[in-house]
Amino acid sequence: MNSISFKKAILAFILIAGFALSLYFIYDKALRYFVFTKESYGDYFWPRANWVIVHVVFGMLALVIGPFQFVPAIRNRYLNLHRWMGRTYLTSTLIAGIAGFYMASTSQVNYTYQFGLTGLAIIWLTTGTMAFISIKNLNITQHREWMIRSYVVTFGFTAFRLMDDLLTNTITNQGDRLGLLAWSCWTIPLLIAEVCIQAGKIKEVSK
Ligand code: HEM
Repeated sequence: MNSISFKKAILAFILIAGFALSLYFIYDKALRYFVFTKESYGDYFWPRANWVIVHVVFGMLALVIGPFQFVPAIRNRYLNLHRWMGRTYLTSTLIAGIAGFYMASTSQVNYTYQFGLTGLAIIWLTTGTMAFISIKNLNITQHREWMIRSYVVTFGFTAFRLMDDLLTNTITNQGDRLGLLAWSCWTIPLLIAEVCIQAGKIKEVSK
């Protein structure tokens, strides 16, 4: 296998695994908010139900559309579809990000958790805005890079909830666990993404 097919295989694996985990997260954690009752939302989310449903609907759209934007066959053969999905994705991150920001500022648990999720909301809005500005300026390379960062951040909340389930018995103090995950769910994936983005350019000679 040459290095190009290896890179393609890795990309396909990441996209398919990310998509499968996203569908599981939606099924397990998000669908219940489509039943608009206090029982379904619970005491914690019910007072913010309007924000939650907006956040969940547009968060789901971004989560599901995102991976398709990285499939070269769609980009190359159906450019118009790619554009429309891109507009829908970025609009969704904007709306869900504003709702996420409000929800982070009204969440409880502790300050580490609140600030970590507020950071996630700010970085979600920032990466989406940068992806939009770069494509408006026809800078395809920067647009691609910012879209990678944006989707890594979109997936951050899924990673947060899945890791929360996995670590329940290891980090038994809920405040510690949620505080730790609210930061690590986006900072570590973003660092890995950045290394991958920059590694591709390391052999470029600066002029
Ligand atoms: C990536 C940026 C995101 C941020 C900053 C964010 C922020 C938040 C915040 C602050 C809460 C409330 C937590 C609390 O009050 O304790 C929340 C809940 C929720 N979010 Fe997001 N979110 C993001 C992405 C997503 C995505 C992409 C989805 C996809 C459906 C999603 C679905 C949910 C759901 C279902 C809840 C309520 C249940 C739960 O907390 O697990 N979020 N989000």
